Amino acid sequence: MSYQAQNMLVTGGAGFIGSNFVRYLLGADASVRIVNLDLLTYAGKLENLEDLPGADRHHFVKGDICDRELIDKLLREHRIDTVVHFAAESHVDRSIHGPGEFVRTNVVGTFTLLESARQYWMAEQKLDKAALAAQRRFHHISTDEVYGSLGPQDPPFRETNPYEPNSPYSASKAGSDHLVRAYFHTYGFPVTTTNCSNNYGPYHFPEKLIPLIILNALQGKPLPVYGDGQNVRDWLFVTDHASAIARVLQAGKTGETYNVGGWNEKKNLDVVEQICAILDELSPRKDGKRYGEQIRFVTDRPGHDRRYAIDAGKLERELGWKPAETFETGIRKTVRWYLDNLIWAEKVTGSAYGDWIAKQYGA
Ligand code: NAD
Ligand code: DAU
Repeated sequence: MSYQAQNMLVTGGAGFIGSNFVRYLLGADASVRIVNLDLLTYAGKLENLEDLPGADRHHFVKGDICDRELIDKLLREHRIDTVVHFAAESHVDRSIHGPGEFVRTNVVGTFTLLESARQYWMAEQKLDKAALAAQRRFHHISTDEVYGSLGPQDPPFRETNPYEPNSPYSASKAGSDHLVRAYFHTYGFPVTTTNCSNNYGPYHFPEKLIPLIILNALQGKPLPVYGDGQNVRDWLFVTDHASAIARVLQAGKTGETYNVGGWNEKKNLDVVEQICAILDELSPRKDGKRYGEQIRFVTDRPGHDRRYAIDAGKLERELGWKPAETFETGIRKTVRWYLDNLIWAEKVTGSAYGDWIAKQYGA
């Protein structure tokens, strides 16, 4: 029998993936009600939540996942049966410069949510293990970075790979995954976890590679490529991640983890060049030169993981999930979206894309 969430708490739902998930699920599920808890850090934006389908079933709350009193109150007030946990500090470069916030949000925040939901569902509502598995879900969103770095000949990460996190970000995510796992094994708490590869698509904050390259290119700025540009990432269009999470919620087995990815391994330099080529076609530079001329090789990220690749076979075989986009279709849609949404970019970054629009279109 498939699981149906009724009253869902989404954390981090004003961020990149969380907002895409909220948008996707409100459109795909006509009955679910979503309470969206987000602290609106530099990465969380209400602009990501404009024009939601089924907006009357979405309720936004500004707040911190480390605030136990607030979480307790939200769970009770909204009779939450399902938690989908995205909230995190998510940027590897920031974790190198300031790891403390990553431990607080990613580890302590996840712990706070787990404890609050355990108290509510198990101590207060007194649900036994069978009822919990059938009627409650805590879904934790994690990353492939917990598995460490692959060599060129290694097979893609499977769910059985050992955890070998290398950055403060991935170590804090690994810590949160372990807590989620421990709550299942110790308390029979009804968890599922997904470990996903690099996402890209609309509403991606322009500190991450793909949106940064698109927007820098349009502003005539340098396009920074770390090291030799040969590091490999495995890219998934963000709504494919959303559909995978929805599928795991519906049909995933509690206590299980599922890897999510689209079999799209790419070298960073190839991604940057592909974006430049699409921009050359959709929005050529006024001076007739190619965007690729803006590429600059810069100092490498300390401890930069060389290669990530996800084996999504378990999710495909056991739950019948498949991504809808290839990298080629997804990256084109993404570039198009940024070109059509420069006002969004201007609002979330404070950069003057308006000048660029004026120069380009005489607006
Ligand atoms: P993001 O940085 O865009 O969004 C994170 C959101 O969490 C923001 O809206 C922020 O305001 C909110 N937040 C931060 N601290 C908070 C707190 N203490 N309380 C409440 N809200 C808080 O991140 P994203 O890229 O959307 O990633 C979402 C989740 O997916 C993260 O858990 C990340 O580890 C995971 N993930 C990301 C990727 C990726 O490629 N971006 C891939 C795999 C997994
Ligand atoms: O693999 C999943 C992870 O993907 C998520 O868990 C993280 O939250 C998410 O931020 C992302 O991490 P990465 O470090 O892989 O993403 P980022 O966009 O920062 O970088 C992608 C690659 O591009 C990486 O090899 C570093 C490189 N890079 C990045 C930036 C910002 C550059 O070469 N130049 C840049 O300016």
